[in-house]
Amino acid sequence: MKSNKPVHIAFIMDGNGRWAKKRNLPRNAGHKKGGDTFREIAKYARDSGIKYITFFAFSTENWKRPKDEVDALMKLFSEYLDEASKQVDEKSRLIFLGDKDVFGDDMKAKMTGLEQKSKQYDACTLALAINYGGRADIVRAARRAGKLCRDKDIRPEDIDENFFSGLLYTSAMPDVDLLIRPGGERRISNFLLWQSAYAEIYFSDKLWPDFTPHDLDEAIEYFGNRDRRFGNTA
Ligand code: FPP
Repeated sequence: MKSNKPVHIAFIMDGNGRWAKKRNLPRNAGHKKGGDTFREIAKYARDSGIKYITFFAFSTENWKRPKDEVDALMKLFSEYLDEASKQVDEKSRLIFLGDKDVFGDDMKAKMTGLEQKSKQYDACTLALAINYGGRADIVRAARRAGKLCRDKDIRPEDIDENFFSGLLYTSAMPDVDLLIRPGGERRISNFLLWQSAYAEIYFSDKLWPDFTPHDLDEAIEYFGNRDRRFGNTA
């Protein structure tokens, strides 16, 4: 089946550090520029009619980075949350994927506040994965399923793929159609493992801060030419 436009696009924003290094700048300058690219691409994708857009902003493994880099990233997220709270985009629903409990009360409140405030908008859903890991997502869903069997009227045999999907952080979103990874690496890095089961994967050697709306158009065009069979024959 030829598919034309992806419904859900997910981005692994890779290459900020190398972008900065090439310019003799500190890594954090690359993250800042990566944040600008995030804003530009999110807006462009929304205006292009993409209904679900997910960005991998911080993984459960990224806490291992030097403290000053983690602090700088948290500052960028916090600034973005303030900005999004001030100028609510009355088209987009905003959701955060990942365990919020590790964040301070202030940041947690900003994230849940934004989720609540934007719940009513459905032209586009913008998801930011922060403190997210694909395996952690699946383990959490399995625990939730276990609890439902223990405490509610759910039997193990009631748990099928569809039910399980509803227990993931992405319960409000369909599976990923197109996964885009700039930065030259060709791996999934524990991103949306369950949700990308049938995703087309587009790798680009461009570093994330250099990624442009034109590059996104090219990725969408690539997707449009793919023959998606979902395990079926041609
Ligand atoms: C990976 O590149 C990137 C990250 C771990 C952070 C991604 C965060 C941003 C783009 C900022 C987002 C900002 C907002 C407001 C959502 P890397 O640092 O591993 O790059 P490298 O592989 O070149 O070292």
